[in-house]
Amino acid sequence: MNTEVIDIRTDREKAILRAKKVILSGEVVAIPTETVYGLAANALDEKAVKKIFEAKGRPQDNPLIVHISRIEQLEPLVEEIPEKVKKMAEKFWPGPLTMIMKKSGKIPAVISAGLQTVAVRFPENEYARAIISASGVPLAAPSANLSGSPSPIKAKYVIDDMTGRIPLIIDGGDCEIGVESTVISFAGEKPRLLRPGGITVEQITQLIGEIVIDDAVLNKLREGEKASSPGMKYKHYAPKADITVVRGSLEEFRSFLSEKKNYSVLCFDGEEGFFENAVSYGKENDGASQAKRLFNALRELDEKGAETVYARCPQITGVGLAVYNRLIRSAGFKIVEAKK
Ligand code: TXA
Ligand code: MG
Repeated sequence: MNTEVIDIRTDREKAILRAKKVILSGEVVAIPTETVYGLAANALDEKAVKKIFEAKGRPQDNPLIVHISRIEQLEPLVEEIPEKVKKMAEKFWPGPLTMIMKKSGKIPAVISAGLQTVAVRFPENEYARAIISASGVPLAAPSANLSGSPSPIKAKYVIDDMTGRIPLIIDGGDCEIGVESTVISFAGEKPRLLRPGGITVEQITQLIGEIVIDDAVLNKLREGEKASSPGMKYKHYAPKADITVVRGSLEEFRSFLSEKKNYSVLCFDGEEGFFENAVSYGKENDGASQAKRLFNALRELDEKGAETVYARCPQITGVGLAVYNRLIRSAGFKIVEAKK
């Protein structure tokens, strides 16, 4: 398949028209959002949605998020809109927040992967909204990487993963946030955080009170355990390199490495000089800056041919929780203490 790339920053009208045409003809297009690039198709067209799974190599039991560009598009997709969802939408939409509700009959089974719920997001990115609006339909979209790889926050990485697999990639520059949206379920008794992201736990509890943090946010699922969010059970965000997350201060980290050989380091800005092969992923104690860098840094380690990587451990408050959640998955949950 031939893959066309259009830069929406310079060719806005053409990009929107082409994207609309591709979507309404039942094909898949990669689009920028403020979190990560998405692989979008008409959410109401079952055949088109199946093509997303094929392009990504995604397991069929992992459901997709439906993206809207007007709040009025939510009602037909769900059984009912809970009060807390209304409150959250008012405050955080458009933005990096996905809310799960009981689904209506309009949602094709492939989107929800057999579940009785649907995940909905109203993205903030201007280009994403323009493309959703022009198509006039909600768009199903997972992150635009091959299944298992780090999510792309640069068009270059979408091109690497998707060339020959989809007909159109819309380049909108780098994504501002850099990790995927916060996913929170309102389908059960209490709101439950399934995936941390740009909207933080602190911000959410301030607005709607206590929420349950799903076990899978910080821990590996035990053998045979059922995932509330199917995406959490797969090995994720994994570069080719073998990563180990090392807890402790910079000094402890350095002395931990003193006996090791042939390794690369994933460190914070300004620490690169201490190591022979280092890639940095943002400022220490600054979750937002780490979120913006992490997935790029993981891909850069691959580009450098890194095989064994030791990573500095981020703080797990604020957006740092999202960074930590992605990093431990990319490490296959290998976490060690620097201090003996
Ligand atoms: O920021 C984002 O959310 C990006 C951009 C493109 O919008 N999208 C994204 O999609 O990250 P994806 O498919 O890579 O991740 C969606 C996550 C998966 O972990 C999936 O299992 C979960 O949301 N999910 C989707 N629908 C669900 C549902 N009905 N119940 C539970 N989990 C669901
Ligand atoms: Mg993904």
